[in-house]
Amino acid sequence: MLSVCPLSSLARGDALRVQADPPIAVFHTEDGEVFAIDDTCTHQDASLADGWLEGCEVECPLHASRFDLRTGRVDAPPAKRPVRTHRVLVEDGHIFVELSTDEPNLPPGVSVTSPRAGGGA
Ligand code: FES
Repeated sequence: MLSVCPLSSLARGDALRVQADPPIAVFHTEDGEVFAIDDTCTHQDASLADGWLEGCEVECPLHASRFDLRTGRVDAPPAKRPVRTHRVLVEDGHIFVELSTDEPNLPPGVSVTSPRAGGGA
């Protein structure tokens, strides 16, 4: 479980990029919900934490693909692959993220630095 920050330090409508491998983006919606997804757009190397949050969607700052924060689904092209989502827990006013064990859908040219399982010698 990744400790992110106190809920009070992430204002509604704001996003935070969190160092992980690959980095993740944590969003606090205007409605007060908190979501976590991989920070890197699946189209190219752009930070979704730098994008625009609208409702439960984030728009990529580079080419305006939109992703549903609840499911990772692509709601607007050019991205085709969904972004990976992570489970969020808010406990005692603190945000925690349980990192998904699914494979991330990273764009071409972006890779994780330390593959977490397997890979041989
Ligand atoms: S990099 Fe996100 S839509 Fe192109």
